[in-house]
Amino acid sequence: MIEQIRAARDAALASLASAASSDDVRTVELEVLGRKGTLTDLKAGLGRLPTVEAKKAAGQALNDATAEVSAALAARLGEFRRAEREVQLHAERLDLTEVLRAPRRGHAHVVTQAWQRLEDVFVGLGFQVAEGPEVETDWYNFEALNMPAAHPARSMHDTFYVDHGPPGSTVLRTHTSPVQIRVMQTMPPPIYMVMPGRVFRNETADATHLAVFHQIEGLVIDRGITLADLAGTIEAFTKAFFGPGFGSRLRPSYFPFTEPSAEFDIQTPSGSWMELGGCGMVHPNVLRAGGIDPEEYSGFAFGFGIDRMAKERHAINDVREMYANDIRFVEQF
Ligand code: DAH
Repeated sequence: MIEQIRAARDAALASLASAASSDDVRTVELEVLGRKGTLTDLKAGLGRLPTVEAKKAAGQALNDATAEVSAALAARLGEFRRAEREVQLHAERLDLTEVLRAPRRGHAHVVTQAWQRLEDVFVGLGFQVAEGPEVETDWYNFEALNMPAAHPARSMHDTFYVDHGPPGSTVLRTHTSPVQIRVMQTMPPPIYMVMPGRVFRNETADATHLAVFHQIEGLVIDRGITLADLAGTIEAFTKAFFGPGFGSRLRPSYFPFTEPSAEFDIQTPSGSWMELGGCGMVHPNVLRAGGIDPEEYSGFAFGFGIDRMAKERHAINDVREMYANDIRFVEQF
């Protein structure tokens, strides 16, 4: 019996010595100490030994062998676990020092770049730049733009309301158009102004929509301004911003603050059309809200999304990527 115990122990220790992984170690454990293991079997045979002395001696030998094999098992398992963990750590490592190790100057965000280029192009066309507040009154955001309370077009703007003043009187601006009114109120015509800024809509973000995004608004007020001036300005802008191979067109549409109203599209050199924004001749009610006499002056306005321009220019699939703050994404532009 004692010979058998020692043989089983030696076999187990030899298997453990040649084990190549923690799985091998577990297999040896089963083969020796498992329910049908070699030492387990021998333990079951103890009762059949003839004398108390023989049982005692064999029991002692079994305990020693089990302790020795268990210690070897634990030691080998520890070794493999450390090695396997090492491999896993290496495979999954994320080197957060990369950016620090090679210091580089940052650059403007892809949307900021589009914003700045748009300003540059319009300044080149003779426009000035103005900005207005992001928190607006209902009057500037809607009423003065010919959208009185209960106007159906209001429902197209999913508005965030600010808890300030009488209920519903303060909003996060849903577009940059209210800045038109503020500009008209602060300067006499002629006005040639673009107004970029951040706008807010209470909608669920998806690949083409964000709740916080950017628009650029244009406003021209002067004597004798006609739809031809609007079409010519859009065309000049398109060629200056996108390149001489691009063209533009106006399509009839509806906005409460312009009459007539249009959508403007640009045509790529390959011939395909892309919808860009809205525009039209400033509605007489809007001129009056801005303190300008519609009998003396006329004008046009336009507005479009800046984020969309960046998205189209760089063929970005999902606008949400632009605000995920992943350095690997933003450093590409
Ligand atoms: N404010 C409009 C919007 O957010 C865009 C727009 C359309 C602006 C026509 C204009 C305009 O100035 O004339 O959807």
